Amino acid sequence: MTNRDSVRQKPRIFLTEDAKRLAKKRLPRMIFDFVEGAAGREVGAGRNETRFDDITLQPRAMADVSKRSLITRFLGGEYGLPLGIAPMGMCNLACPKGDALIARSATDRNVPVCLSSAASSSIEEMRRWSGDLAWFQLYFGQTADASFSAAERARDAGYDTLILTIDVPEVSRRIRDQQNGFSLPFRLTPRAFLDFALHPRWSISTLAHGVPAPRNFATESKGFDRKASRAGADWKFLQELRGRWPGKLIVKGITSPEDAVRVQGLGVDAVYVSNHGGRQLDSAPPAIDLLPIIRNAVGPNYPLLFDSGIRNGEDVVKALALGADFVMLGRPTLYALAAAGGAGLQSLLQCFADDIDLAMAQIGVNRIEDITDQVLFTPDFQSVHHETTPRAVHLSAAT
Ligand SMILES: Cc1cc2nc3c(=O)[nH]c(=O)nc-3n(C[C@H](O)[C@H](O)[C@H](O)COP(=O)(O)O)c2cc1C
Repeated sequence: MTNRDSVRQKPRIFLTEDAKRLAKKRLPRMIFDFVEGAAGREVGAGRNETRFDDITLQPRAMADVSKRSLITRFLGGEYGLPLGIAPMGMCNLACPKGDALIARSATDRNVPVCLSSAASSSIEEMRRWSGDLAWFQLYFGQTADASFSAAERARDAGYDTLILTIDVPEVSRRIRDQQNGFSLPFRLTPRAFLDFALHPRWSISTLAHGVPAPRNFATESKGFDRKASRAGADWKFLQELRGRWPGKLIVKGITSPEDAVRVQGLGVDAVYVSNHGGRQLDSAPPAIDLLPIIRNAVGPNYPLLFDSGIRNGEDVVKALALGADFVMLGRPTLYALAAAGGAGLQSLLQCFADDIDLAMAQIGVNRIEDITDQVLFTPDFQSVHHETTPRAVHLSAAT
C-alpha cells in the first residue's frame, strides 16, 4: 500500500473542523463558498454554531450506563442514530457521485437521507440507492401543479416521507456567491476558469463525471431557476399538499411557535425547526434558541426535527435535550465528502456516533429517548450569587 492509499483509507477527520479544513483545500473557492456561505454578513450562520457552546450538559456520577444504545425511533422508523442527512442541492459539486456516496454511508448506518429538489441526482436514483431510507424534499416550483407533480413523481418512485421547505419565499443574497459569480447552471467566467485550474484534481474528476446539473425539475417548462420565487408555498398550498400526499409530511424551515402550531393543526406529521443554516435571513435567531420555545408550543409528544449549527455529537445531544426528536446534518456532510469522499463521510459519522455515545455515558443515560431537559446544566444563579457575595466584598476591600 502506498502512503497515498493509506491516507485515502483513513481520512484524518476527528472533528467537523478537520473535514472543513480539508474541504477548503480541495474545493475550488467558488464551490467551497457555495457550501460554507450564508446570507448577508453571515452573522446568523456563525451564531447558529457558537450558541451551542453556551449550552452545557450535567455529568452524572456512578450511573449504570452499560446498556447504551443509539437506536432511535422516529415517525414510525427505527434508525441507527438520532440523525439523518439534511436536503442539500448539488451535493455532487462537493465530490463526484456525492449523492450516491451519501446514500451508501446512510444505508451503512441505517439513517435517513433526504434528496433535495435541487439535487443533481434524480428522485428515482436516490430511491434505488437508499430504499426506505430515502426521503424527498420539495420546493415550490413554477406553479402549484408542477409542485404537485414533483411530489407525485416521488410517490411513484416509492417515497413515503416528503419534506416541504417553506423558508425560501425568495432566495436570499449570498454575498460570496455574488462575489464569485456562482450561478446554476454554471457559467464559465474567466474567474471561475482560474479557480478551477488551480484545483485540477476536483476539476478533472468533476468534468469526467459530467458537470452536475439539477435533475428534478423536468416537469417544469423553464427547468431549474435557483432564483425563482417559491412564495407559492403558502398555507393554502400546504393544505392541498396534505390532502394529496398519503405518506408522512414534514414542514421544514419553521422558526416561529405560531407557525409551528398552525402547521401542526393542518395534520402535518412533523415540524422541522431550521433557519436554513443561516442561508436565508442573517438576522434570524439562532435556531437552537427556538427549539425549546417551539417544543413548548406544540406540546411534549408532537414530532420535531432540527438542524442549523450542529457540528458534533454533543450538539446532537443538546438539541435532543432541548426538544428535538431527530436531528439533520447539513454542511458537515458536504465538508466530509469534499475532504475524503465516502470514506470521509463514514469517518465523520463515526465521530458523531462516538461522541453521542460517550456523552450519554457521561450524563448517565442509556437510551436516546431518555435525553430530556433533565440532562442540561441550568445554573441556579441565585444561589451562586448568594455564595459569592462575601468573596466579592472581600476582593473589592483588598483593592
Ligand atoms: C450547499 C447547501 C445546499 C442546500 N440546499 C438545500 C435545499 O435544496 N433544500 C433545503 O431544504 N435546504 C437546503 N439547504 C439547507 C440544509 O438542508 C440545512 O437546513 C442547513 O444546511 C443546516 O445548517 P448547517 O449546515 O449549519 O447545519 C442547503 C444547505 C447547504 C449548505
